[in-house]
Amino acid sequence: MHKLAVIIPAAGSGSRMQKETPKPFLQLGDATILEHTMRRFSGLDCLSEVVIAAPDALRERAFDMIRPLLAKNVELHGVKGGRERQDSIYNALRQVGKADLVAVHDAVRPFVRPKHIVQCCDVAEQWGGAVLGVRAKDTIKRTNEQGIIVETPDRSYLWQAQTPQIFRRDILLDAYEKAHREGFIGTDDASLVERAGHKVKMVLGSRDNFKITYPFDLKVARMKINETEMRA
Ligand code: CTP
Ligand code: MG
Repeated sequence: MHKLAVIIPAAGSGSRMQKETPKPFLQLGDATILEHTMRRFSGLDCLSEVVIAAPDALRERAFDMIRPLLAKNVELHGVKGGRERQDSIYNALRQVGKADLVAVHDAVRPFVRPKHIVQCCDVAEQWGGAVLGVRAKDTIKRTNEQGIIVETPDRSYLWQAQTPQIFRRDILLDAYEKAHREGFIGTDDASLVERAGHKVKMVLGSRDNFKITYPFDLKVARMKINETEMRA
């Protein structure tokens, strides 16, 4: 069986949320967003290590939240955050030990389904890289700087990329090192891997797996959690 390392970037400032507390540490029902997110991974048999990027002042709190959720044989490491999400992940990636697959998953996507994580692992083993996502539901326009439409790409080939994004470790490391050398900043992990010439395949997930970004997303997340807790 493969060994999976999970990198959790949790070192952002949450500027769009406009709250004192950084997003992963906000409460969602019975636990923080970060704890809900970790619970989605903690039951996976293949999980061998977790590396979390968190602000200095919160790293110990993050450890205290995560450690109890992990089996004894799962290693836990913490690293400093960087200026960009990509810098935080690069710091974390250099801490990954023996795992052959590496997943990157935003601390602020607490609704990912374990079966989709497993599907991404299988696809990453076979193709080298896998990105969970959903098909674009709106027509997407590409414009010039004046907002004039220059292209309407065929929607049937358009996806919205989420996380986890899972890769064979050697491939992800190669892509991150190349981007670092060349000063390239991408908006997700796959864009670095694509750019380094490796194949990445989309895996169809679900719209539940949204990223808690704006106050509205937090409201929806809290409604969703209440609904689940009431049903339980
Ligand atoms: N992140 C990180 N290091 C950074 C920036 C982001 O570890 N330098 C993490 C965030 O903590 C979050 C994930 O990457 O879990 C996704 O980023 P995003 O939703 O953009 O969070 P923030 O960058 O914190 O929010 P904003 O962009 O609104 O400031
Ligand atoms: Mg951000």
